[in-house]
Amino acid sequence: MEVQQFLHMNGGEGETSYANNSTLQRMAITKVRPIVEEVILDLYCTSFPKKLSIADLGCSSGPNTLFVISHIIDTIEKKCRQLGHPLPEFQMFLNDLPGNDFNTIFRYMLPSFYEKINEEKGVGLEQCFLAGVAGSFYGRLFPSKSLHFIHSSNSLHWLSQVPQGLQDEMGIPLNKGRIYLAKTSPPSVFKAYFAQFQRDFSLFLKSRSEEVPGDGRMVLILCGRRNSDPSSSECSSQWELLAQALNDLVSQGAIEKEKVDSFNLPYYAPSIQELESTVEKEGSFSLDRFEVIDINWDGSEDDNEETFEFDKLASAQNVSKCIRAVSESMLASQFGEVTIDELFRRYEQNVVEYQSNGKGKFINLVICMTRKG
Ligand SMILES: C[S@@+](CC[C@H](N)C(=O)[O-])C[C@H]1O[C@@H](n2cnc3c(N)ncnc32)[C@H](O)[C@@H]1O
Repeated sequence: MEVQQFLHMNGGEGETSYANNSTLQRMAITKVRPIVEEVILDLYCTSFPKKLSIADLGCSSGPNTLFVISHIIDTIEKKCRQLGHPLPEFQMFLNDLPGNDFNTIFRYMLPSFYEKINEEKGVGLEQCFLAGVAGSFYGRLFPSKSLHFIHSSNSLHWLSQVPQGLQDEMGIPLNKGRIYLAKTSPPSVFKAYFAQFQRDFSLFLKSRSEEVPGDGRMVLILCGRRNSDPSSSECSSQWELLAQALNDLVSQGAIEKEKVDSFNLPYYAPSIQELESTVEKEGSFSLDRFEVIDINWDGSEDDNEETFEFDKLASAQNVSKCIRAVSESMLASQFGEVTIDELFRRYEQNVVEYQSNGKGKFINLVICMTRKG
């Protein structure tokens, strides 16, 4: 089953919405801003195009949706002012899966966005054209050579589907009691996940390579790992803690064991080497830069273990809300909506216990690429 049938971030603006629970993702985007600035200025100042076409892939719906685009306009506007150059026209595309809450973006967020860039930057409606593009980025989305720059944050760790081959020939689940790669997952499960990631990421690169001309650029931010082991806690602990909470509900009789045994996430956090080798093998892009950034689960910049003691509960609540906002659609479709509140109460407790040994972190990989000429 394709992910678009069951994956979407929690919509709207309620307590459990992605809009209200995406500050950890925003931290990653903010940390990468200087890199985006450098890349976009280099791109713009090479040929000063009269029209700049830019796409943000996996834009979701919330405060992060227009964050990147407005930063890019800001950067170019400042540069043009410095050089006494006329502003280019901006053609901006916001992409996500069809289930994304595009209505909220276009009905409620765009009017104030236009007002703001007009007031602050003098960029009017006739200068900045925004369009939504609903579809999977694992395939073509735009005409040939139509984009200068592609950005994607916090999205490419979602696979196009749950990997095939997670059952034996009798249809018996191989990754029982786990929902992602864990130390105890059989080797064939590791193989199936990596193969799916390689297929998906190669297709992503191939599709984008058609859409940007030679010298077109991309900046991608996705969850990943430093460690070569795909089940290392730095990239899988948030899911192991969720599997633990699901198994607790099984013991209580609140959900069926078979449902947990057959549930696997369409997610993969690659290592730097895996990304590098997939980019090289696909061959359309050259890798310009790699960075690894850590995002603390409590949303702080603080690594001081002494002050951390006091933040353990807040941190657990923070990460629990974040994981709920991104995974509730999948969990509800497998286990039913009634279990979700109880599931995340347990999850929060598991995160508190887990963090008694230290602060939890997400590892984000940042890659910058140029289309080979
Ligand atoms: C965690 S949100 C990230 C939103 C925003 N970019 C940010 O950084 O906060 C991930 C988004 O990727 C989208 N997504 C996942 N798979 C996708 C695909 N194959 N094609 C397009 N969008 C996808 C999801 O629907 C979701 O809105």
